[in-house]
Amino acid sequence: MRRTMVAGNWKMNGSLETNSELLRALVAAPRAACEVVVCAPFPYLAQARQLLDASAIALGAQDCSVHERGAYTGEVAVGMLAEFGCSHVIVGHSERRAWHGEADAVVAAKAQRALGAGMTPIVCVGETLQQRELGETEAVIGLQLDAVLHLLGARLPELVLAYEPVWAIGTGRTATPEQAQQVHAFIRARAHRHGADADAVRVLYGGSVKPDNAAELFAQPDIDGGLIGGASLNARDFLAIVDAA
Ligand code: PGA
Repeated sequence: MRRTMVAGNWKMNGSLETNSELLRALVAAPRAACEVVVCAPFPYLAQARQLLDASAIALGAQDCSVHERGAYTGEVAVGMLAEFGCSHVIVGHSERRAWHGEADAVVAAKAQRALGAGMTPIVCVGETLQQRELGETEAVIGLQLDAVLHLLGARLPELVLAYEPVWAIGTGRTATPEQAQQVHAFIRARAHRHGADADAVRVLYGGSVKPDNAAELFAQPDIDGGLIGGASLNARDFLAIVDAA
């Protein structure tokens, strides 16, 4: 049985004051049935760790370096994230793929680094609107996934996948539950073909998940929770989505 997960991706948002307000509200809520993760910007990890202590909410980062340590100015190593109490890290978010040129192989190597540090990588895959309209959705996601499968293969159940159609991120335009389910089933089948225990792999949906569409999305058989951007910045919205899971 796969345990549902709801992960908040704050992106480059927050301040000491607003984080404190948000996290205090999350911690005060009744313990969720699903796994809850908050992925904060690097400078706020220490603050978040402190505020989340004694709660069941896990802490994650939004990226990590592909390198272990060394002369990589501006990069943050998985070992550093682990020291700050991160148990999860998002890798291969479409914003990093688009703005920082992260290739599939780099994303896979980051996931491997995270596993090596005892952390759970949340690996994002997804197609652009143009790719979808050209009928390339499965081809694109297949390649993104294969890079991870080639490197990590049978270890796939140790990580979390997130399907995030680029055209649905921050646009208010969500994939319909049917559209999302179709891709999630494709992802699971692909993992199965590569010999991974596909039934054990959690696949989250991300892209304009809100309190009013979460339950319908999470009810799909291959959707195991969500990766939440905008709505994770509002305690009431985020908690409503957690409830839906
Ligand atoms: P959104 O972002 O919920 O604001 O669409 C999701 C994500 O990018 O992870």
